[in-house]
Amino acid sequence: MKVLVTGGAGFIGSHIVDELIECGHHVVVLDNLSVGKKGNLTRDVRIIKQDIRADLHSLFSREKFDIVIHQAGQVSVPNSLRDPITDLQVNLTGLLNLLEAARKHQVRKVIFASTAAVYGMPIELPIKESHPLKPVSPYGLTKKTSEEYLRMYHDLYGIDFTILRYANVYGPRQSSNGESGVVSIFTDLFSRGESPIIYGDGSTTRDFVFVKDIARANVLALQAGDGEIFNVSTGISTSLNELYNLFNNLLSGQGAPIYVDSRLGDINHSVLSNSHIMDKVGWVPKTSLTDGIRETLDWKLQLAIM
Ligand SMILES: NC(=O)c1ccc[n+]([C@@H]2O[C@H](COP(=O)([O-])OP(=O)(O)OC[C@H]3O[C@@H](n4cnc5c(N)ncnc54)[C@H](O)[C@@H]3O)[C@@H](O)[C@H]2O)c1
Repeated sequence: MKVLVTGGAGFIGSHIVDELIECGHHVVVLDNLSVGKKGNLTRDVRIIKQDIRADLHSLFSREKFDIVIHQAGQVSVPNSLRDPITDLQVNLTGLLNLLEAARKHQVRKVIFASTAAVYGMPIELPIKESHPLKPVSPYGLTKKTSEEYLRMYHDLYGIDFTILRYANVYGPRQSSNGESGVVSIFTDLFSRGESPIIYGDGSTTRDFVFVKDIARANVLALQAGDGEIFNVSTGISTSLNELYNLFNNLLSGQGAPIYVDSRLGDINHSVLSNSHIMDKVGWVPKTSLTDGIRETLDWKLQLAIM
């Protein structure tokens, strides 16, 4: 199949590109390289350097994509609180621009990167796809609205979709700026021999899913799950203290974590049920947290000596 991966030079997108090429698909990447890097693309793949909000018609008319995997976006909750207008423009205007090109150029299906942030504060755990959607950030709201646009474009114009709501994704190529996931921040600090900071008492839990498992879910969705919404998660809660211990076992000799006050608005516990995607698509998370962290640390340490 001919597949366009938007945001394909980013953390998750670049792993999707690897998996697609591995499975023999023809891949084109569209990315403005604001965050993504050409260096993330280890395979020989064509990159269109373009903003998702710019005119897409000539590209779509020329390339005749079968499927679009849409990963490009404003991905940070804190940034969306600081600058909700940019969040809206990139995430919603960008999606609409893409959907307009998709419908005019006979794209069969759009696979969309959504998030656990659409749920807001969980009222029951594990969170199932039927849980109420009450996002507590502009980022969560633009993702929730994106899901509604996808459903509407399906009903109006027949474009298929699969929505994948990712839990906390981690793995090689994730940037470790101050606002990224806790695993990438721990990876950075541990690889430099520094003590990590933990907000709260360390009992906060998250559902950490390895990026290659996320990539596999996207590739399976090329041929399954039309019109469906799936959590993509491990279904396992891990506390920040447990996470610290896992890192410490793999790379011992670190200082104890530094505990500071928890941040306002942080969700205490989040774990997503993955039974729907296992039943319907046959996807299972294959990478244990220990193996995933080991691979991420190896990547980081390798980068440091290059
Ligand atoms: N990382 C996670 O834990 C997580 C969790 C849930 C959902 N998601 C979603 O997964 C997707 C991928 O996230 P990621 O973690 O790989 O982030 P990332 O920042 O590494 O990747 C996003 C990519 O989009 C590109 N991009 C940003 N704005 C663009 C624009 N206006 N036009 C074209 N390209 C643009 C960036 O250069 C980057 O390569 C996002 O949609 C994000 O919301 C991520």
